[in-house]
Amino acid sequence: MIVFVTGGAGFIGANFIFYMLKEHPDYRIVCLDKLTYAGNLSTLEPVMRNPAFRFEKTDICDRKAVFQLFEEEKPDIVVNFAAESHVDRSIEDPEVFLRTNILGTQVLMDACRHYGTKRFHQVSTDEVYGDLPLDRPDLFFTEQTPLHASSPYSASKASADMIVMAYHRTFGLPVTISRCSNNYGPYQFPEKLIPLMIANALADKPLPVYGDGLNVRDWLYVEDHCRAIDLIIHKGQVGEVYNVGGHNEMSNISIVRLICRELNKPESLIKYVTDRKGHDRRYAIDPKKIHSELGWLPETKFEDGIKETVKWYLNNRQWWETIVSGEYKHYYEKMYGNK
Ligand code: NAD
Ligand code: TYD
Repeated sequence: MIVFVTGGAGFIGANFIFYMLKEHPDYRIVCLDKLTYAGNLSTLEPVMRNPAFRFEKTDICDRKAVFQLFEEEKPDIVVNFAAESHVDRSIEDPEVFLRTNILGTQVLMDACRHYGTKRFHQVSTDEVYGDLPLDRPDLFFTEQTPLHASSPYSASKASADMIVMAYHRTFGLPVTISRCSNNYGPYQFPEKLIPLMIANALADKPLPVYGDGLNVRDWLYVEDHCRAIDLIIHKGQVGEVYNVGGHNEMSNISIVRLICRELNKPESLIKYVTDRKGHDRRYAIDPKKIHSELGWLPETKFEDGIKETVKWYLNNRQWWETIVSGEYKHYYEKMYGNK
């Protein structure tokens, strides 16, 4: 079995590559990644010399390069993680989100059609459903919830989902889509909430909490997400969407306080800053479908996963310190300098 993993030098894609090489040692995994600011080849160092693995620096929008790789490898399955993924960046500069997340997805699907690929899996997000009010804890996103995206990021992911379903209905492309809640774990880029707070706390820098800090996210350990995708590409029904989440809703402020406790840092580091524009209030996934159809349940409890994650950032300082000391410094200054 030959599996293409796009965006595999990023957070979830890299964890997925490690997971697949471990679970399916007889598979060949080919990673296509443009290596944007969010892609780190150093993350893939442990597998670079594995004969079952190939890395190609490729932009998924580059039709010629993508078709060339399909011609060479003839993949059985394509799992598309490649995306611009940070909401704050999409508010600053939406264009590249539309290009990569929508047009890049189309290029991959055209190649799948041309080469008769048996499965195209789109890694989507719960953010396509928009948000839920804080005072209705009884409401959850199901696969039937209408798409109602709020940010340029989530709108680009929702558009991609619609094109994916259109390719299924119109051309019969064998597709599946997963819509997962917020992930956390090793190798997450330090612009996202959890690693950003860990890195800042370790440097005794202010911990910037947007708005009132009461926004709620439904956190899932990254390996649980990888296992869900592995199940969907092998056992999921073609043409179906699967929500992935573990009923682990937490407010941002409670996460930041927890990180302070884990690192033995004072809560006086917390600084409330200007809210994100259009900030989604609450995300909450109903994962009944993937549980009942594919038997998926999360395995890592948040109390354990967050401890593991904090430990990972403590033990792998070089990985993220290289990032925060480079180009990212300018980003940080621009985004947080005046907040
Ligand atoms: P990430 O930003 O850490 O990694 C994205 C990767 O895609 C990087 O390696 C980057 O170099 C690559 N990439 C970007 N543009 C590309 C292009 N044009 N061609 C080829 N490669 C390109 O993102 P992540 O957090 O790992 O998210 C992966 C996927 O999962 C995304 O599609 C995202 O929408 C989705 N998702 C993320 C979360 C989350 O909590 N992080 C939750 C649900 C879904
Ligand atoms: P993030 O990790 O960017 O994921 P998403 O917006 O895709 O859910 O942010 C998670 C939550 O944390 C979100 O409500 C915004 C908030 N947040 C902060 O309060 N401060 C920060 O510095 C960042 C990056 C996020």
